[in-house]
Amino acid sequence: MARPDLFEKARNHDRLEQLAAAREHDLLPYFRQVDGEPGPLVRMEGRQRLTLGSNNYLGLTGHPQVKQAARDALEAYGTGLTGSRFMNGTTPLHTELERELADWMGTEEAIVYTTGYQANVGCIATLLGPGDTVICDSGDHASILDAVYMSRARIRPFRHNRLDKLEKMLERSESDGGGALVVVDGVFSMEGDLAPLPDIVRLCRQHGARLMVDEAHGVGVLGAAGTGACEAYGVSGEVDLRMGTFSKSLASCGGFIAGPAEVIDFLRVQSRAFMFTASAVPAAVGATLGALRVIRSEEGRELLARVLENARYLQGGLDALGFDVVQPTAMPDGSDVLTPIVPVTIGDDWRAVLFWKALYDSGVYANVALYPAVPPGGALLRTSVMATHEREHLDRALAAFEQVREQLPKGSKAPEAVPTTGTT
Ligand SMILES: Cc1ncc(COP(=O)(O)O)c(C=O)c1O
Repeated sequence: MARPDLFEKARNHDRLEQLAAAREHDLLPYFRQVDGEPGPLVRMEGRQRLTLGSNNYLGLTGHPQVKQAARDALEAYGTGLTGSRFMNGTTPLHTELERELADWMGTEEAIVYTTGYQANVGCIATLLGPGDTVICDSGDHASILDAVYMSRARIRPFRHNRLDKLEKMLERSESDGGGALVVVDGVFSMEGDLAPLPDIVRLCRQHGARLMVDEAHGVGVLGAAGTGACEAYGVSGEVDLRMGTFSKSLASCGGFIAGPAEVIDFLRVQSRAFMFTASAVPAAVGATLGALRVIRSEEGRELLARVLENARYLQGGLDALGFDVVQPTAMPDGSDVLTPIVPVTIGDDWRAVLFWKALYDSGVYANVALYPAVPPGGALLRTSVMATHEREHLDRALAAFEQVREQLPKGSKAPEAVPTTGTT
């Protein structure tokens, strides 16, 4: 019998038709070329566009101090380290960065990985093994889920932010026989809401499980010092492990795990995603260190305040226009938190794509999230703000949203219904 050709999957995958239709009508929201620095205004495909689609929350990718730190690192250590952290890929910059991250997060130690994805994979797949249990929120980032599969631990998922379901999973895990780790995003990257961390901490304690929080969208955003959702809730000291990435507020590329010395040291000598991959290029490490120092300065505190004010302004405007936009997360002290991630739910995948394209043609770039990145029928435009957005930028964005909604035929779902906005 002839062996099936593995490439058949590529020729016949379930998204092929949609992809072809989107390409034919120039509706593909992905791989659009950015031709400049990712500021509030950026040149994309021949014209300047207002960007609401960046994770550069504090706007530090263009900060003179951060760029200089990258240049200095490049001059001192060259373009690449050509080896893993474990071998010839650790410079004094890495050591300084790990020390400053641990100091910032208030942990004994921190370990720096080449990407945030690898930080999750390296930590989770090393700590857990067959016989252990991992309990994850259904909204957790893909890197967490990949790490979980790699670990071969027993997976017990629970519905997004449902504490009753988490409790049930914790109860069930007691008879699994091994150790248990609960992993949640502090800020959920698509939904823009927070995990109810004080309750999660309490439940983990009650059931003897360890807790890890992915702070990719929390670091450099939430808390007075900007260390993330754990800080905003006042539970940093009660969370066993915190992960962060450098690819968002920290204006670079890379990731870290902060936690007790015994675990971090174990990861240094056991974590395959740390030992068997190249160290980040020196310029990336230098830029991260530069960004961290800005965040911890007076200027950083102002930027932290500004990005959250901008989030309130955009969310308030979209809400007033009647869009189905994220609502603030209520905090235990009666206050509420709104993160720079301001998703607008559109519903149908094609309608979201058409909305995205009409916005793009009117000069506004947002991200679009379709199934399976979001649940079926939950397609959304993921807008996000930066500290460096001016009010005028956000007003323009709001006007574009309002105008596009008027232009877009109600119920338009198929590529044939592509409206001609005529504004490019
Ligand atoms: C919640 C979350 N965790 C982890 C990652 C992975 O980080 P990186 O892009 O730095 O590899 C991301 C990035 O998209 C993320 O949003």
